[in-house]
Amino acid sequence: MATPGAERGQWGSRVGFILAAAGSAVGLGNFWRFPYVTGQSGGAAFVVIYLACVALVCLPYLFAELVLGRHTQKNPLGAIRTIRPGSPWVLVGGLCVLTGVFILSYYAVIAGWTFGYIFKNLLFAHLDFGHFIASPWIVIPLFALFLGLTMLVVFGGVEEGIERWSKVLMPLLIGLMIVLIVRSVTLPGAEKGLAFYLKPDFSKVTGEVIVAALGQAFFSLSLGMGAMITYGSYLSRHEDVVVAGSYVALFDTLIALMAGFMIFPAVFATGHDPASGPALVFIVLPEIFQALPLGNLIGALFFLLLSIAALTSTVSLLEVVVAYFVDERRWSRKRSVWVVGALTFLIGLPSALSQGTVAGLSNMDWLFGADGLLGQHDFLSIMDAIWGNLALALGALLISIFVGWVWGADRAAEELRQGSRVGPGLVRVWQFFIRYVCPVVIFIILLNVFRGYLG
Ligand code: TRP
Repeated sequence: MATPGAERGQWGSRVGFILAAAGSAVGLGNFWRFPYVTGQSGGAAFVVIYLACVALVCLPYLFAELVLGRHTQKNPLGAIRTIRPGSPWVLVGGLCVLTGVFILSYYAVIAGWTFGYIFKNLLFAHLDFGHFIASPWIVIPLFALFLGLTMLVVFGGVEEGIERWSKVLMPLLIGLMIVLIVRSVTLPGAEKGLAFYLKPDFSKVTGEVIVAALGQAFFSLSLGMGAMITYGSYLSRHEDVVVAGSYVALFDTLIALMAGFMIFPAVFATGHDPASGPALVFIVLPEIFQALPLGNLIGALFFLLLSIAALTSTVSLLEVVVAYFVDERRWSRKRSVWVVGALTFLIGLPSALSQGTVAGLSNMDWLFGADGLLGQHDFLSIMDAIWGNLALALGALLISIFVGWVWGADRAAEELRQGSRVGPGLVRVWQFFIRYVCPVVIFIILLNVFRGYLG
């Protein structure tokens, strides 16, 4: 199946694909972003909307990315160009590649904190998080190190690199999570956290809460910037896209929900504010570790596993951009990895410096006013709001229109049926979702945010 000339791999097996795609999906989005966004958005009602977005928008959309990738065997830009060469749709592929670089730029900063926390738990258990992330000589080397690790894995190529890493440590992470959930829900005062997480109060729902839920659903499933187009391109025609994709979505969603059970009871039991933002997990979790026997060791192990989960995600972000340069520009894999990695490092620097190091980056109200941008004030969180939320929703809107209407729901359905046992009825339901439900829902939600900004 290899495209002549390009260095294209293929997944070793279906399990390999599921694990790699789940590895891309499961990451800081589940453990860091989901709890903090849920906390800022008022809790249970947000979770309900999030689940609705996953089921009604993201799952059908996930199949669309996978079939587009498998059909064309290309990166996002190449996939669109294969189907509509020379049309403005190719720009959507450009948006995907750009979004990949920008998300990677701040994601690797947070991944660097995670990595640093392995050692912090062992050696400097009492160093406080605020000081940690405001120390440039700690966070910048960690950021560079994490980016370097990502480059190393991506350089190894699809099967050797991504797949092998993804297979190894996921079960251990889940096992440790279960231990932590048990600890968290049995802390005195945990009930308040459970109520916050499970008892919806729909009066807290605003347009911003809904767009945050949609954005989080795309982010967590690695959707909206062509990562699943790229991963789908390494998938064989004999695989059942529907089954494989459903496993990935189910797995990712369960892990996010579990992360909520791990964090929220502990947040309330330790007297923290659930709306305290990106720092939430980094502050609350170490407090539960301290209360456990061998807490420092368990904490270090947890952040080690989380770093690995983050690595399988950063790998998928970098892989999209590298696949673009390899397929479309005929660069070698090595050159692509070096150039994109260096560029990402430069773009990520302001994010790394935005947590108390440089005042004008740590609070950007001078630019966006006292309400911030989508309620965020520091450079890193603003990048996350723009690229990790709006750009993904916009990308998904355009790609679902592209698949449903431009490439055509019939051709897409034909590809979906290849290797799959789904019946014609379900295929028709899917066509309805990709043509109408996905674009219309995303459009309305986005319009709602922009209306808010236009006054
Ligand atoms: N889904 C990953 C997480 O939850 C992050 C991620 C990896 C991602 N690849 C992506 C997000 C592509 C959006 C698009 O941590």
